[in-house]
Amino acid sequence: MSYPYQIKTLEQYHQAYKESIEQPEKFWADVASSFQWKKKWHNVLDWNFKEPDVKWFEGGKLNITENCLDRHIDELGDKPAIIWEPNDPEEHHRVLTYKNLLFKVKQFANVLKNNGVKKGDRVCIYMGMIPELPIAVLACARIGAIHSVIFGGFSSQSIADRLHDAQAEYIITCDGAYRGAKDIPLKSVIDDALIACRFVKRVIVCTRTRVPVSMIKGRDVWWEDEIKKVETQGNPDCPAEEMDAEDMLFILYTSGSTGKPKGVVHTIGGYMVWSAYTFVNIFQYQPGQIHFCTADIGWITGHSYIVYGPLLAGATSLMFEGVPTWPDAGRFWDIVDKHSVNILYTAPTAIRSLMSFGLEYVNSKNLSSLSVLGTVGEPINEEAWQWYYKHVGKERCPIVDTWWQTETGGVMISNMANITPQKPTFATLPVPGVNPCLVDENGTEIHGNEVSGNLCIKTPWPGILRTTYGDHERCRLNYFSAYNNMYFTGDGCLRDVNGNYRITGRVDDVLNVSGHRIGTAEVENAINMHSGVVESAVVGFPHDVKGQGIYAYVISEGHHEDAELTRLDIIQTVSRIIGPIAKPDKIQFVSGLPKTRSGKIMRRILRKIAEGETSNLGDTSTLLDPGVVEEIKSGAL
Ligand code: WT7
Repeated sequence: MSYPYQIKTLEQYHQAYKESIEQPEKFWADVASSFQWKKKWHNVLDWNFKEPDVKWFEGGKLNITENCLDRHIDELGDKPAIIWEPNDPEEHHRVLTYKNLLFKVKQFANVLKNNGVKKGDRVCIYMGMIPELPIAVLACARIGAIHSVIFGGFSSQSIADRLHDAQAEYIITCDGAYRGAKDIPLKSVIDDALIACRFVKRVIVCTRTRVPVSMIKGRDVWWEDEIKKVETQGNPDCPAEEMDAEDMLFILYTSGSTGKPKGVVHTIGGYMVWSAYTFVNIFQYQPGQIHFCTADIGWITGHSYIVYGPLLAGATSLMFEGVPTWPDAGRFWDIVDKHSVNILYTAPTAIRSLMSFGLEYVNSKNLSSLSVLGTVGEPINEEAWQWYYKHVGKERCPIVDTWWQTETGGVMISNMANITPQKPTFATLPVPGVNPCLVDENGTEIHGNEVSGNLCIKTPWPGILRTTYGDHERCRLNYFSAYNNMYFTGDGCLRDVNGNYRITGRVDDVLNVSGHRIGTAEVENAINMHSGVVESAVVGFPHDVKGQGIYAYVISEGHHEDAELTRLDIIQTVSRIIGPIAKPDKIQFVSGLPKTRSGKIMRRILRKIAEGETSNLGDTSTLLDPGVVEEIKSGAL
């Protein structure tokens, strides 16, 4: 396997960057020609950010799974595609070669067909991190069905909302999932979601934990039984459906500043080129290396850097079922040691959490196989960066700090390992094809260096989202209306004297808790469902491990005799409505919220109080009732 588009020197980076901006069509046509197309495109790029309408490789026909699998069989057929490390270190790991994986993908694609799934149908995948999850993802792509993977930590209510939004008639799930010391009853969560989703025709259940589940006749079938049926049918082949470059590949839900998560849509051709190009260049992947991305496939990081990017590159992708701290805080290092991992890609929150357990866990393991480290999901603080560099990378391994979003499909701003310089806490330079700019509140571009502003992107890259499922106007309003003719990221950013970018965090009402996006409005809606709650306001506050924690100000009804119990009830409600990831860390009961005369909550003030700031609250004169601020200050947690 060779990568004609892999950048090998700093000069090549500058040259590639320049060409990608000056002649994007030529640049991306060159990269795209490394892949297998059933029919070549007639137009590389067509775009306007008004509607928005972006089309890459129009007229091109392909199937992404042929590029991930079939294409590699001659050369890499017996090489590992996926190494799976189970939750419990006592259980055997599994290795799927490219041949095995292709066989299983075809087999399960035939299961999907037998169960009525057709091209264009939406298939919801709600599974733990077992090899059958990427198999299910790729089987959908094989037959042209659109996958919508939902992270295993979301509640029935969240699943039901997503099923409705996507009108997904098919579900692939497991009986249960293991995560550390916990068993998650996935099928039972799905059953609750389906009470309100009568349109679901089929649920395919894969066995993992053997927890008892209820199987509804005519609706629910076992993965293993369906595989047996396919086996008795005899034909192990499943030709790859011919797809348009701009057909939808997947939907992935993510939070925004409103109460309802958006279904971010990625299309096949552009996403393929972008996920592979960024994977090979950012991590400087070399054939034969083992790449370990610790994310869950339920998030975009897992889609792009466990499944698609690595497989497109013919790489070996290690996937891990469990959590970093179980059975102990050395689990990641055990895995690196056991499998001789070369590239480790994780989140700052995981690093901070592992730091707190001390050095014995990391120093007792052989980490000499590591050559590149990466981080993603939130700004990395200096202390965590240094710890990762020194104690994990032993000052030998570059750290790529990769800034990107669900909407961007792949990494946008990052150093490239051993190619472009790293700078702690800076994502540094844009990837070729990315045209970033900083703008002020009026939308005026801020030129020059040593400046800060809101981060926008001026031109399309192949991996840009195409729409939000079922609501294109929402996509326009969210990303393309704040500033004229630009994609707005929602992030604040500064540019240093050398043109390096440092992302400073969200500038909208979106929190980043342990690298996961959570809308304040979503959490407020969930808190307000609790019968004892009148109103609430949610803000973020700095949290040592999570990056941001969730701080809720709650007005509760009448007298609560046992405030602690009400607090626990509220937390339980949020967990039920959204999922455990959205549980508030702090709940302060208040008698009123600081509002303007027009009734708008002044979050700026609440944010300051949550951050522990009590003196410089800024102008409070426009408040309806300035007295309420004093009360909130005195009760701050
Ligand atoms: C938001 C996107 C993209 C994969 C994981 C999260 C923040 C992401 C970085 C980074 C600073 C970062 C931004 C962004 N973010 N990576 N390297 N440095 N901030 O995907 O859930 O779509 O969240 O995560 O605020 O907007 P996501």
